[in-house]
Amino acid sequence: MARLAPDQRAAATAPPGPVLCVAPAGSGKTTTLVARIAWLVATGTDPARITAVTFNKRAADEMASRVDTALEPLGLSVGAVRVKTFHALGREILADGGERIEPLLDRESVLRDIWPEIDRGTLRRLDDAFSRLKLDIGVTAAEVATDPEPGPIARAFLAYESAIEDAGGLDFDDLVARALRLLEARPRILGRWRESCRHLLVDETQDVDRSQLRLALLLAAPANDVFFVGDDDQTIYRPALYAGPVPANWALTCASLGRAPSDALLKDLVPLFIRERDGLLTVSLVLFLTG
Ligand SMILES: Nc1ncnc2c1ncn2[C@@H]1O[C@H](COP(=O)(O)OP(=O)(O)OP(=O)(O)O)[C@@H](O)[C@H]1O
Ligand SMILES: [Mg+2]
Repeated sequence: MARLAPDQRAAATAPPGPVLCVAPAGSGKTTTLVARIAWLVATGTDPARITAVTFNKRAADEMASRVDTALEPLGLSVGAVRVKTFHALGREILADGGERIEPLLDRESVLRDIWPEIDRGTLRRLDDAFSRLKLDIGVTAAEVATDPEPGPIARAFLAYESAIEDAGGLDFDDLVARALRLLEARPRILGRWRESCRHLLVDETQDVDRSQLRLALLLAAPANDVFFVGDDDQTIYRPALYAGPVPANWALTCASLGRAPSDALLKDLVPLFIRERDGLLTVSLVLFLTG
């Protein structure tokens, strides 16, 4: 804690409630998140009630080892705090609910099995469209099947989903999408996971998609002790993000709050998203903020 800059320390020791830290690449965001975890443990939080999530496996592995190093002086063993990717978390939630978690099918292989002649461009378009249906809109094949006049994408989606069903498996997007549905349908399991995520920390927030954000908000409720950390300009999903959960240009958002983006701590920025966004996310954020 002593080596943190004042804004990092302020973020790491912020009082309970939603916190969003936005700062440039390499400026010490993950360091702040790890310090937050160490501070929570040092001030008496049960490590089993802390969960940190991030977008990809490499970042999760790196964060896990930084968390372990930070917690070692506090006498905690390796892995005492759960650090996962959203997909691994979804997988664990599905397993907990007794749902199938394998075989995990590769979307491209499944599409090539159905349409051996499919070209690369079509593959990419279908891949994007399916992820939008599953993750942004959150619809199931059963819901798409109710469309009396399905278009080509809807028909392809139904063929794909039925191939997945026939194989008795699931795809990568399903890990999060199905975990969300499971938690929404089963209050006992949701309650258990809310205990494990009583203090939830999300790194690389600029890269999370709508389903991942919804999962984080669902798990963090009703206490909403959720600590989001993100970059203002290194998203890998910029075009998707434009219609997605987080303002495309966080720096602009910061400026509209009258603060420089380098002020790492932007407490209560989350309500601003409501005024800027509408649709599904707004609903979940309103629920999030009103408990
Ligand atoms: N207050 C500080 N004093 C000195 N070094 C620091 C401080 N904060 C972070 N660092 C160092 O700066 C480097 C980058 O930190 P960190 O990984 O936390 O940044 P980041 O913002 O998460 O980066 P990225 O954008 O790549 O995710 C690390 O080597 C870290 O140890
Ligand atoms: Mg980082």
